[in-house]
Order: sequence, then structure tokens, then C-alpha cells
Amino acid sequence: MVRKSHVDYLLLNILAITIISLAFHTKALRTGRYNFYKILLRWPESFCNTGNFTCERPISNFTIHGLWPMYWGDHSVPSYSTQNGCTRTIPRLPDEITRRLLVSILLDMDKYWPNVKYHRYFAQNEHFWQYEWEQHGMCFDQSNYPIYYFNTTLNLIRRFNLLDLLITGGIIPNSYHGYDVSSIADIVDNFLQVQVEIRCNEDDQGLIQLYEIAICHLRNDTLTPCPYRFTNCGESDHEEVRFPNPFRNI
Ligand SMILES: *[C@@H]1O[C@H](CO)[C@@H](O)[C@H](O)[C@H]1NC(C)=O
Ligand SMILES: *[C@@H]1O[C@H](CO)[C@@H](O)[C@H](O)[C@H]1NC(C)=O
Ligand SMILES: *[C@@H]1O[C@H](CO)[C@@H](O)[C@H](O)[C@H]1NC(C)=O
Ligand SMILES: *[C@@H]1O[C@H](CO)[C@@H](O)[C@H](O)[C@H]1NC(C)=O
Repeated sequence: MVRKSHVDYLLLNILAITIISLAFHTKALRTGRYNFYKILLRWPESFCNTGNFTCERPISNFTIHGLWPMYWGDHSVPSYSTQNGCTRTIPRLPDEITRRLLVSILLDMDKYWPNVKYHRYFAQNEHFWQYEWEQHGMCFDQSNYPIYYFNTTLNLIRRFNLLDLLITGGIIPNSYHGYDVSSIADIVDNFLQVQVEIRCNEDDQGLIQLYEIAICHLRNDTLTPCPYRFTNCGESDHEEVRFPNPFRNI
């Protein structure tokens, strides 16, 4: 009797310790430095046609949304604070992210990373970069040297022409019909030899459309499969999603 209850007690203890350490372990996985990062390439027309706001248009190429440091399991690292330990570096502050600081990469910054809402106003580009820096960049490696964050992102978009790749695969921006979301994913996956994440949103008619493509990397910049293949792209892996043309009536 005594012995049995002793064993039960031990088991209970082991169970409790296991639960507590699991909880800590799970928490530990979501603090500290990031495990991988995502670069999000955005289709500007899908950002602009939701009916929530207006943009200067058209922009007929993919542009950079940002680079997000991530924890395993698809959790984005919360924005920098002195407490959260996302970096061991003292990061440069958002208002230090100026066009002057980025002068060595400025041409490509304006070309590939515009503020899609107001893309002809260079001062607005600077605000967008400061915002992305504050939200995500301050937890990226070398946050005392912001060019590293911005140039790492530019290097991906410089590496291949995503729009050409899709068009060659028969995925052509148009105002009339959509495409099987898996065939969009397949084209990019086959090219990069890794699973990318297709992100969708809805236009002002409530039609699901291709919004962004996220490409995942390890800290050493090698490609790694993204945890999820689709985000907000409907119930089915074969949902028909729009790829809206930024020029009307095409
Ligand atoms: C636009 O507004 C709708 C509802 O009004 C909301 O569900 C959606 O998230 C908004 N989209 C963006 C990109 O903010
Ligand atoms: C940006 O990255 C490219 C490719 O690694 C490199 O050649 C270039 O020097 C970098 N530019 C800056 C300003 O660091
Ligand atoms: C679109 O962006 C790609 C880089 O991803 C670039 O190679 C291409 O020249 C751009 N196309 C136009 C028309 O600017
Ligand atoms: C990058 O890191 C991964 C995992 O740590 C490793 O397997 C891979 O060989 C590394 N690649 C390079 C080019 O260092």
C-alpha cells in the first residue's frame, strides 16, 4: 500500500516536472535570437486593391515587403525591446535609417523596396524602411550595421526575376480569371528547389488573390523550406486565386 502510493507520488512528480520543463522548453523556443528568416515579396496590385486605402499606381513588378526574423514553428520574432533578448547587439535606432545611411544601396532600395502606397515620394520610402527596421530589422543579425539587413533582402530580389518566372510558367497577371494556387507554388518551388509560402488576401470584391511569396532562409542565408505552403489562400490546395493586372482592362 505504502509502496504503491509512493510510486504514484513519484510518477506524479515526474509528470509534473515533465510538464513544467516542456512548458519552459516551448517558451525557450520563442525567445532569444531568431532561428530562420522569411523574405516577403509582394505583388503591389494585390496590396492596393483591397478597397481599404488607395495607392499610387501602377507598379507592375514584385517589390519587397520585408525580412522577418522567425522562430521555429512559424512564429515571427516580436519587435525589438531591451528585455526580449532577440539580439546581443545594440541596434541602430529607426530614425537612424536614412537615405544617407543607405546611400551605397539606395538605387536598388528605391527600385525594389518602395513604399507602394506613395512610391514616387522618396521620403515615404524612408518612412517605410524605418518602420520595417523597427518591426523586424532590429532583431536581425548585425543590427548595428543596418545595411546588412537591407542588402540581404535586396540580394534575394536581385537573384531572380519572379514575375518572369511566373509568366514563363503561364501565370500571367490579368483581370479575368485566376490560377490554381498549387501551380503557382510549384513554379517557384521547382525553381528554388525548396518550399516557399504563398500568401493570399482578398480584393475589394472578396476574390482571393496572390498577395505575397515568402522565401525562407537559415541564418547563414541558405534556403530552407517554409513551414507552411499557403496562408489565407482558401480551403483547398487547389483554390483558384487571382493574379490581378495592375493596368486596367488587361
Ligand atoms: C481590409 O478591410 C477588411 C475589412 O474591412 C479587413 O478584413 C482586411 O484585413 C483589411 N485588409 C488589410 C490589408 O488591411
Ligand atoms: C550587398 O551584397 C552584395 C552581395 O553579397 C555585395 O556584393 C555588396 O557589396 C553588398 N553591398 C553592401 C553595401 O554591403
Ligand atoms: C522586376 O524585378 C526583377 C528582379 O526581381 C528585375 O530583374 C526586373 O528587371 C524587373 N522588371 C522590370 C520591368 O523592372
Ligand atoms: C547553413 O547551415 C546549415 C544548418 O546549420 C548547414 O547544414 C549548411 O551546411 C550551412 N550552409 C552553409 C553554406 O554554410
